[in-house]
Amino acid sequence: MTYKTLLLDKKDGIATITLNRPEKKNAMSPQLHEEMVRLLDDLRYDDAARVLVITGAGSAFCAGMDLKEFFTDLKPHPQEYDRIWRIATEWRTRTLRYYPKPTIAMINGFCFGGAFSLVEGCDLAIAADEATFGLSEINFKLFPGGSVSKSLANLLRPRDALWYGMLGRPFGGQIAAEIGFINKSVPAAELLNETMTVARELAQKDPWALKATKEGYRFSLEMSWEAAMSYSSAKEMELVLRQGDAWRTEGIGDFLKGEYRPGLEAHGSKKR
Ligand code: ACO
Repeated sequence: MTYKTLLLDKKDGIATITLNRPEKKNAMSPQLHEEMVRLLDDLRYDDAARVLVITGAGSAFCAGMDLKEFFTDLKPHPQEYDRIWRIATEWRTRTLRYYPKPTIAMINGFCFGGAFSLVEGCDLAIAADEATFGLSEINFKLFPGGSVSKSLANLLRPRDALWYGMLGRPFGGQIAAEIGFINKSVPAAELLNETMTVARELAQKDPWALKATKEGYRFSLEMSWEAAMSYSSAKEMELVLRQGDAWRTEGIGDFLKGEYRPGLEAHGSKKR
């Protein structure tokens, strides 16, 4: 499968997807949305992709929706506008949120508007200190539409969501980390190394346990205590089936043999 708006690199179990419209600051065009849906579907079943990293080519991570190709060009075509609106919101939110593999947003530069939902949909997010974030919608007389308002409500404290949403002021990577929108911010020169270190660490962990970790967290958010306990118990049984009980036989088994200390290191990473 070839893509015009995306680049794909696979190495050491890590699939790096690069939004590749640098001349348009990686704004998300209808074609980019369609290609991303296909690529995420491909990687879902690709055993060589244990962890996904999403980043941008050139000076931008993603300048949000393509203001011309989406909002302007599709205005006379309401059905096509609706179709693209639906897939654009779906992949950045539900598809990424419930993706069966860990996902990391590596924010290398400009990150505006609709790109906030992409970042929120990823499990982890690491930015360059030099990156520029902004809810720019208000600056052009819009509001954080599509899935963006929900992404803000999911991740940010009310004061921060309304401050940045209503003022539209840009902010850097360190502020993005301080307000909890991302995990951490590092100098641009260290961004790739820092992100790949985290990705490699995830790629070494048991994929079924990682999937259960994501799902346990994400689905519990919307469940009653009773439902969450029942779900968790069922998940434990699913894990036993999926892994062949490796968490008990190998994970706990090797600890009980004194071979490693799971409080301090991952199974298989080090022997005492
Ligand atoms: N949609 C479409 N085209 C875009 C977008 C966008 N979101 N962002 C940048 N571009 C295009 C520019 O029109 C320009 O195209 P051209 O060379 O054909 O004229 C090219 O990318 C480069 O952009 P410049 O403005 O020349 O680059 P600069 O470095 O000066 O500024 C910046 C970059 C800050 C990203 C600026 O382009 C900008 O403010 N873009 C809009 C950001 C935005 O508000 N995004 C929408 C968020 S809301 C939402 O997603 C629903």
